[in-house]
Amino acid sequence: MQLTLQSPLDMHLHLRDNQMLKTVAPLSAASFAGALVMPNLIPPITTKQMVQEYKERILEAIDDEVFKPYMTLFFRPEYDYEFLEQVKDDILAIKLYPAGITTNSEDGVDNFSVDALAPTLEAMSELGIPLCVHGETNGFVMDREAEFIPIYERIAKRFPDLTIIMEHITTKDAVDALMRYENLYATITLHHLYITLDDVAGGLLQPHLFCKPIAKRPEDRMALRKVAFMAHEKVMFGSDSAPHPRDKKEAPGCAAGVFTAPIALPALAQLFEAAGVLENLQKFVSDNAQKIYAITPPQKEVRLIKEPFTVPQSYNDVVPMFAGKELTWRVDA
Ligand code: DOR
Ligand code: ZN
Repeated sequence: MQLTLQSPLDMHLHLRDNQMLKTVAPLSAASFAGALVMPNLIPPITTKQMVQEYKERILEAIDDEVFKPYMTLFFRPEYDYEFLEQVKDDILAIKLYPAGITTNSEDGVDNFSVDALAPTLEAMSELGIPLCVHGETNGFVMDREAEFIPIYERIAKRFPDLTIIMEHITTKDAVDALMRYENLYATITLHHLYITLDDVAGGLLQPHLFCKPIAKRPEDRMALRKVAFMAHEKVMFGSDSAPHPRDKKEAPGCAAGVFTAPIALPALAQLFEAAGVLENLQKFVSDNAQKIYAITPPQKEVRLIKEPFTVPQSYNDVVPMFAGKELTWRVDA
């Protein structure tokens, strides 16, 4: 059995820089026609020049593969209309991180009063630049996403023309909120479709499944699966594939992030097939994103073949999700 996907997209991806970029970018390019590239480098991507130079480094790393890096800026409340107008054509979205909430987010936002964010959000709305949000407070770890929902609602109401993407949603509450506002959309990761907190910490601790937001309860996973499996038009695939070297994961102070880029499509096909909804995968991994972001990605056919695929133990020093396990689909090289 085979499945051909047209221009699959990963609308939330960490490619890092330097040697790590060289390791991981070709792996995404082997499976996807494009990806929304996160700006949380050290220092974060905050200028037009940084965007352009980072994009060049990505293109260099993928060599001659067909793969479009859709670039993002790291949100700052002081961006003004003039600056955003100048950078608009180089980016697809701006990513907002709460300060200190996850990897390399120390320079994020610490005042979430809508008035404090309004000038930048107003300009983004006028210029048609989507806002991507890591929606977590610094409250109790299991409640952070739920506590952030009122902030999403305030922004969605005040800026009805602003496209807002709730990144990597993990809860039923988030799915419900998503449905209440026309201008809210969401990405869903592979790992949050597969795992719950039990898989991370229910037995021996699994550092390679530790990420932010942390995986939640079975009923939350069920709510995510429901909208992903029907390829609801408000949701799209964003892996949040977030590579860290093994010594940063298998360590006290384990870094947050699950590395899924090279296994994402086979693992999604396996999950969608088991649910009897393989025909909806195309929408989930490409068509919905094209509509939400109003983009036309490069044409690229990616063929999946239903043959056993043993996931490598590591890619250089990065351990992928399902390392050493056998998946039922593989990407045709
Ligand atoms: O687990 C995560 N890792 N969550 C994020 O939001 C960031 C990411 C990273 O950059 O490592
Ligand atoms: Zn991320």
